[in-house]
Formats: sequence, C-alpha cells, structure tokens
Amino acid sequence: MRKVVVVTGASSGVGLALCKRLLEEDDELHMCLACRNVGKAEAVRAALLAAHPAAEVSVVQVDVSNLRSVIRAARELKQRFQRLDYVYLNAGIMPNPQLNIKALFSGLFSRKVIHMFSTAEGLLTQEDKVTADGLQEVFETNVFGHFILVKGLGSRSSY
Ligand SMILES: NC(=O)c1ccc[n+]([C@@H]2O[C@H](COP(=O)([O-])OP(=O)(O)OC[C@H]3O[C@@H](n4cnc5c(N)ncnc54)[C@H](OP(=O)(O)O)[C@@H]3O)[C@@H](O)[C@H]2O)c1
Repeated sequence: MRKVVVVTGASSGVGLALCKRLLEEDDELHMCLACRNVGKAEAVRAALLAAHPAAEVSVVQVDVSNLRSVIRAARELKQRFQRLDYVYLNAGIMPNPQLNIKALFSGLFSRKVIHMFSTAEGLLTQEDKVTADGLQEVFETNVFGHFILVKGLGSRSSY
C-alpha cells in the first residue's frame, strides 16, 4: 500500500522542494498537495507527475488562515484517505518588516539617536492583518490553522 504524505503550502518554496525530495526518495508515494491556490497546485501536480510517473499526486484545497476552509479540508482528507503517514505543516507567511519613516525622523532629533541606529529599535514595523476569524493572520496561518487541521485529522467524529 502506498504511503500517503500531506504537505501544506506545497505549491512553492520549501514545501515544493520537500515534495520533490520525498518523491526522489520514494517515487511510489501518494503525495497530497494541501494548497490555497488550486491553479498553482494543479501545475505543481502535473510537473511532479511528469518527473515521477509512478507516483500518485492529488490536490486538496485549504486556506490555513480560514477556519472553515481548514475544517472542510480535514474532513476531505479523512474521507479521501484511510491513512496518513506523514503530514508536513509547512504553509506559512512572514510579512516583510517596513522602515518606519516617522520613527526615523523623530528619532534623528532625539537623545535616543545612537541607541536607535545601534539597535534599530522602533525603526522597523511589521504589519499583521486580522483574518475573517478575528485572529492575527500570521498566528492563524503559521500556528492555529495547522493546529485545528491536525486536531480535525485526529478526531474520530467529523468536524
Ligand atoms: N525560507 C526561510 O528562510 C524560512 C525560515 C524560517 C521559516 N520558514 C517557514 O517555512 C515555511 C515555508 O517557507 P517558504 O520560504 O517556502 O515560503 P514561501 O515560498 O512563501 O511559501 C509559502 C507557502 O505557504 C503557502 N501559504 C501561505 N499562506 C497560506 C494559507 N493561508 N493557506 C495555505 N497555504 C498558504 C503559500 O501558498 P501560495 O502559493 O498560495 O501563497 C506557499 O505555497 C513557512 O511556514 C515559513 O514561515 C521559512
């Protein structure tokens, strides 16, 4: 029986590299790409199958920053697969820090100027949106969505 591997955020970056690497090790895996963007995931699926024709590759749509989507995906994974051998919780975001121009100019003319340039304290800001579920986007995407996914996969009762 084929081993089943689920990778969240498999459509690019580390997640995609992981899928390729796992298939190089065992090209008879069933690789399930759990991705937000189905179009991107289908393109990755085609490329993986072209390189590893013996593999099975499927796509499950999930937005880990949306609890309804996560619950639906957990239900779908349980319905589709009798076993999951490995689940890689890779999907994630890291907003780029931005320079806070206002803090820069007010710091320039203050007594904290040396401290400001030696530590960058107050100079960099990171925006974090609030999701439809009322949670910080980075937290829900990187942590909470995956927590609910794993909880849903582990529970006998369907969500
Ligand atoms: N690269 C690094 O140096 C580094 C360092 C520390 C930690 N990490 C962590 O490692 C993981 C992968 O990083 P990476 O560099 O490969 O990032 P990446 O290239 O930006 O890829 C992130 C993947 O996560 C998916 N994703 C983002 N938000 C999602 C959501 N709400 N629902 C479902 N999928 C979502 C993206 O899908 P879309 O294509 O739809 O956007 C993409 O496939 C992340 O969790 C990141 O925080 C990376």
